[in-house]
Amino acid sequence: MDASHPYMKTNLPLKEKSLLFAPMEGVTDSYYRKTVQDLFKKWDFIATDFLRIPSVGLFPQKQFLHHIGTDIYNTSYMDKTIFQILASERSLLEEHLLLLKQLEINWLDLNLGCPSKTVCKNKGGSYLLSDLKILKKILKTIRSSHKSTFTAKIRVGFEDDSMFEDILKLIEDEGVDAITIHARTRAQLYKGIANWDYVKQAVKISNIPIIGNGDIWTTKDIDNYFDYTQAHSVMIARGALKTPWLADLYYNNEEDTIELRIDHMKKYYSSLYEKMQLIHKDEKIRIKRLKAVSRYIFDPIEQIKPGTKRSFLLCQNYEQMQDVLNSI
Ligand SMILES: Cc1cc2nc3c(=O)[nH]c(=O)nc-3n(C[C@H](O)[C@H](O)[C@H](O)COP(=O)(O)O)c2cc1C
Repeated sequence: MDASHPYMKTNLPLKEKSLLFAPMEGVTDSYYRKTVQDLFKKWDFIATDFLRIPSVGLFPQKQFLHHIGTDIYNTSYMDKTIFQILASERSLLEEHLLLLKQLEINWLDLNLGCPSKTVCKNKGGSYLLSDLKILKKILKTIRSSHKSTFTAKIRVGFEDDSMFEDILKLIEDEGVDAITIHARTRAQLYKGIANWDYVKQAVKISNIPIIGNGDIWTTKDIDNYFDYTQAHSVMIARGALKTPWLADLYYNNEEDTIELRIDHMKKYYSSLYEKMQLIHKDEKIRIKRLKAVSRYIFDPIEQIKPGTKRSFLLCQNYEQMQDVLNSI
């Protein structure tokens, strides 16, 4: 890439066509990220779920460390970790940014897509896409404190897409290093299919890298997405939950066979279970957690052996889960 290329101006530690594992509340906690990073090494980065910056009281540093993962902090896992925060007008942002500075977080991402009613009522998450004055103030505060990579993850608007281009411009003008776009409005929640045209349009009009997100499920989708949108990189959420080894398939040019899926699933559940064993002594919590990451991963197996997912979800303990996986 030549030095005059617009991407050269940004502080993004990503080669073009990188694959990012998206932030998912209730999924991408530290044990989960560690499992993915241990087993499926081709993801270029993986994001924490959001940490809400409070408006009253100061988080102790250990809360940040817990969010990152105390055993991940200061290790090479951090080299590929995106730390996501969620802020609102009333958040004690400056104070918490100072704490983050002490932790030397490399890549900070601002959540501007969360559709939750409570979050939006408190003027955070996707609400900020409807109030560019507050958004500008928040972006300025973060940018002036956080000198390394700072990105924003947006939807295409709050109620509708009428401010989409203004939002992109504002974020770029405030010195953000890249924008991830989940190509739906907040009002759409998860309805329909994300419209890749928004990402294509953003790539055309922005001078900073655009990371596309929304309804990328297979390696073929990844190729089509890059061809169609020309996005710098892609971020994948539900597709990554369905196929946590998707980046390996893509980079190794491999096919996602059922045999490979079963083999990976056994390793995946056992790694996650073992990692949780170190912290959660209660088997019930561990079992619940394994079920919580099983939303899409069984889909291809259901086609050849219907009822497998139901059997897995009915398991009371880990031995029973292993039996189900071994019986496929
Ligand atoms: C269970 C779940 C939790 C999510 N939590 C977050 C989150 O903490 N932060 C965030 O920016 N987006 C979150 N998202 C949104 C995803 O990162 C992503 O933008 C969205 O699912 C669209 O991408 P996909 O079609 O690849 O799933 C979450 C999505 C899901 C399914």
